[in-house]
Amino acid sequence: MKGSWFNFFKDKEKLEFTKEVFEDSMKALDEDLMIYLRHADKGAKVLECCCGPGYTAIPLSHHFNVTAFDRDSGVLDYARSNAVKFGKNITFKELDFFDIEGEFGTDSFDACSSGGVLEHFSRKDVRRLIDLQLKVAPVVFASMPLGEGGGEKRKNEWGIVKYEYDSRDWIEDVLNGYNIIEYRTLPYKPEKMRFREFMAVIGRKSREKGCLICNESR
Ligand SMILES: C[S@@+](CC[C@H](N)C(=O)[O-])C[C@H]1O[C@@H](n2cnc3c(N)ncnc32)[C@H](O)[C@@H]1O
Repeated sequence: MKGSWFNFFKDKEKLEFTKEVFEDSMKALDEDLMIYLRHADKGAKVLECCCGPGYTAIPLSHHFNVTAFDRDSGVLDYARSNAVKFGKNITFKELDFFDIEGEFGTDSFDACSSGGVLEHFSRKDVRRLIDLQLKVAPVVFASMPLGEGGGEKRKNEWGIVKYEYDSRDWIEDVLNGYNIIEYRTLPYKPEKMRFREFMAVIGRKSREKGCLICNESR
């Protein structure tokens, strides 16, 4: 995933949290908290991948023991200062997603999580990144806005690449063959978000396959 994320967040005035932004991000996590808590105990060690300014990492730190990383040092500086004001149990690291196994080692976390990240990678790289996450933790939470479908590669004005995966692309193609324990889609929420969101919980193959909980709204 190349392109300037720092400039994207800066231009959208999304680098620095206000109290209202923090409260909104806590509310956004509430939508997903039951899903997290079905697969990770309160206080569990969670690796938040590509944390950006902390929109998911900081709310998660109020429920879990979070290690968050991003490879953009400028974005990470803001995540750190946002966490000083609004975070709880959280530490940060400058790191590339592809280096997590080397950095942390096998089974170093109870779960890995990412939000708004995997749709920026090709199918092949998404699968590499899921494999890496399943090495460092037994459970992966992956949430992403849904695209138009078909997986077409697009680039925005900040040079950030995104692939147009819809929920069918995720389930039947990109994540095909993985042990998807649970997934759900959220509809558009016009007041806060412009997109539909998809979230999948992926386990290791060796884990006993639970009954698939699917909460899909079309
Ligand atoms: C959409 S933002 C993530 C937002 C974040 N999940 C949040 O809740 O605030 C994507 C982030 O991924 C980071 N990123 C992109 N490629 C990366 C990589 N290979 N390794 C680490 N971070 C990466 C970018 O710097 C950017 O901050």
